[in-house]
Amino acid sequence: MLGRINHIAIAVPDLAAAVVTYRDALGAAVSQPQALPEHGVRVVFVALPNSKVELLEPLGENSPISAFLEKNPSGGMHHICYEVDDITAARDRLMTTGARVLGDGQPKTGAHGKPVLFLHPKDFFGTLIELEQI
Ligand code: CO
Repeated sequence: MLGRINHIAIAVPDLAAAVVTYRDALGAAVSQPQALPEHGVRVVFVALPNSKVELLEPLGENSPISAFLEKNPSGGMHHICYEVDDITAARDRLMTTGARVLGDGQPKTGAHGKPVLFLHPKDFFGTLIELEQI
């Protein structure tokens, strides 16, 4: 069911500062910031030869990453995104195993304009999982 790792996401308290670190200290190619109000985050993507890193900061009052940053004030690894061919089939299969899909269970449009879902970290060894249909 799982394809490639699409990206690994790191929550940061200050996106502009994180961009400077990745661009200047690590010498990476970083995209322009993108606001995702439906997800309560602003993101950039760091292009790597074999994958991407997503840097995200809270956007708006009820950002889903605000509590995470309160516990991890300097930032931290937030989620890993796996590619799937058919997100609805993947969701249905996961729900038969008892895994919890976050939100209303309906895929939302992610940062790449593709359908995404998030899976409860307690069901996956403490790791928040994003599925993205490719
Ligand atoms: Co993501």
